[in-house]
Amino acid sequence: MLNPIKLANKNFLSSLDTSREEFFHLLDLAKNFKNKDLNIELKDKVLGLIFDKSSTRTRVSFQVAMSRLGGTTVDLNPSTSQIGRGEPIRDTARVLSRYCDVLAIRTFKQTDLEEYAKWSSKPVINALTDLEHPCQALADYMTIKEEFGDFKNVVLTFIGDGNNVANSLILCGALLGVEVRIVCPKGYEPNELVIDSAKKIYKNKNLLKITNDPISAVKGANVLYTDVWSSMGEENQKEEKDKDFLGYTMDKALVSNADSDAIILHCLPAYRDKEITDEVIESKKNRIFEQAENRLHAQQALISCLLQ
Ligand code: CP
Ligand code: NVA
Repeated sequence: MLNPIKLANKNFLSSLDTSREEFFHLLDLAKNFKNKDLNIELKDKVLGLIFDKSSTRTRVSFQVAMSRLGGTTVDLNPSTSQIGRGEPIRDTARVLSRYCDVLAIRTFKQTDLEEYAKWSSKPVINALTDLEHPCQALADYMTIKEEFGDFKNVVLTFIGDGNNVANSLILCGALLGVEVRIVCPKGYEPNELVIDSAKKIYKNKNLLKITNDPISAVKGANVLYTDVWSSMGEENQKEEKDKDFLGYTMDKALVSNADSDAIILHCLPAYRDKEITDEVIESKKNRIFEQAENRLHAQQALISCLLQ
């Protein structure tokens, strides 16, 4: 039976907090959880959830993951805890890590997440920041591996805003050696530090491409991925971004340029007929709900390793 290994890093703040080998281990473990081949008991362990932004999938998949592992969660709503009043992160982190065994945090700035990790005596998980969404990418690559068996010939094209989801897809793609193409309007490119880190990992292989042309980027791709144009916290930019992203909708015509075996992914929640058409989301190529389910299995694997 596969046993969870202790990860070299205490925290999971970024997709680069695991090595390639650890990432593969998490994927194997997640698959074993999905197939019900594992019976790991984390009895009495408590996961604290601190969510400064809304969530359906991440919150519930963490809660169910802990329940399946025999542990429990405490869901902290910033508006009904002292977090919303502005209690310093360094105090909140020191207190909560005396009660909880692990913390999952969804917030705006990556530096705030890092501040939690600095002061917490227990592992901290990135449940989404403006910079990264590493738990999402773990489930995404699990879904891709389930579909294609391995990552050898996978070409992933992401069409949309180059922010958190795209950044984590790039970093994991680099770890796994997957060709990643990001298509976005000018000015919406992924984070430069993320691009630099990925390029270093890819070494001299030219496997990361950033372009403004959806059709050429989709040619030969077998994973087509999109995300909302306006992320949480960007509600006041919606009108402007809707205009800037015209022509970047994943529709049937665009999908027809991809490989015949191409699958469609979306982290959800989606705005139908903005970044993706209703027809594409409901098509046979969609693996979006497998992808959402895999959040649960991937996070069971992650928590099991972080609590070793
Ligand atoms: N994909 C994702 O993180 O969804 P939620 O915002 O619902 O958690
Ligand atoms: N980019 C989106 C992802 C939601 C899961 C956001 O940050 O709102």
